[in-house]
Amino acid sequence: MSSPGSKYVPAPPVDFVGREVDTYRVIRDISKQRLVTLVGVPGVGKTSLACAACTYMADRRLSLLEDGVLFLKAKGVSTYPAFLLAMMQLLVDRNTYSNLRERIRKLQQNDDESDDDDEGSGSNSPRVCGAHTGKIADINHDISRLEKLILSFFVPLRVLLVLDHIDDMLDMEDLKVFLASLFQDCAAVKVLVVCAQTLRMLRIPTHGVAETTCGIDNLTLKNTLRLFARMSPLLKTMQDKEAFVRRMLGDKQQAQQQQGMTMASRGITTKSANILRALGNGHPATILKLAHECTDSSFEDLMKLCESDVFV
Ligand SMILES: Nc1ncnc2c1ncn2[C@@H]1O[C@H](COP(=O)(O)OP(=O)(O)OP(=O)(O)O)[C@@H](O)[C@H]1O
Ligand SMILES: [Mg+2]
Repeated sequence: MSSPGSKYVPAPPVDFVGREVDTYRVIRDISKQRLVTLVGVPGVGKTSLACAACTYMADRRLSLLEDGVLFLKAKGVSTYPAFLLAMMQLLVDRNTYSNLRERIRKLQQNDDESDDDDEGSGSNSPRVCGAHTGKIADINHDISRLEKLILSFFVPLRVLLVLDHIDDMLDMEDLKVFLASLFQDCAAVKVLVVCAQTLRMLRIPTHGVAETTCGIDNLTLKNTLRLFARMSPLLKTMQDKEAFVRRMLGDKQQAQQQQGMTMASRGITTKSANILRALGNGHPATILKLAHECTDSSFEDLMKLCESDVFV
């Protein structure tokens, strides 16, 4: 893997708002741990955050990730063979073809040797070998070879493997066993899992690797307003956008008290709660949708929300 740097990491959104602390938390957790799971509700910005954190780390070529970041977009991947094929594709994209051919040749050689050993031992145990045992065994054999090949790629690497959006594979035991093998065989590989829930490697020996969960929530009031303003076609200039945020936050004292609030914060005023509610509770994907769909009249309704100012 000759090219560290962020060219293999998908770019975060151009207008990536309000995730500085979360980005720092993800980077800190990855620096210290080998398995980090980034969780949050759909659309809250997990993938965007993973991209931002990985871009930062890859650009700086941190020594603990000397070989960079491998970012697997796993959305839509719902079976274990499909996962392995996607992983393989990722590795092929990052390696020279001759390197790949050499590894396949070595693997083939090892397989042939172990087949010979089996025959020599006279064992009656069923062998997983396609030529003799039909289709299912064929598939199992292919899967296990693919696993070996992928693991062999990772062995020498100091790399962060990102598995983005593995929501459809959370119950898949095979995937967890694969990760456990990765932790055991590839001492310098770290994994960032991105999905709605924790992975929960229960019952699977992870060789001392514990799952660290990093959760992200909706945006604060100020960041919600900033994102809405940046995305709204009704606010045309930077001055328009900044003036909108200032107006919605109220005078200096109110702004200072309320800008960091979320719907779950104690001390949020009715006005702030109303504004947040009108802007999807600070949920980024919803804010984007509202900003794009906002009409003159719904914009006026939004502006009227700064008039109420009752503490809850
Ligand atoms: N902090 C942010 N600033 C600007 N845009 C954001 C931010 N967070 C998320 N977005 C935008 O919101 C949308 C959803 O974000 P993203 O895909 O990262 O969410 P997700 O949690 O990964 O969703 P899913 O669970 O569906 O995979 C995207 O269009 C993204 O660009
Ligand atoms: Mg995502």
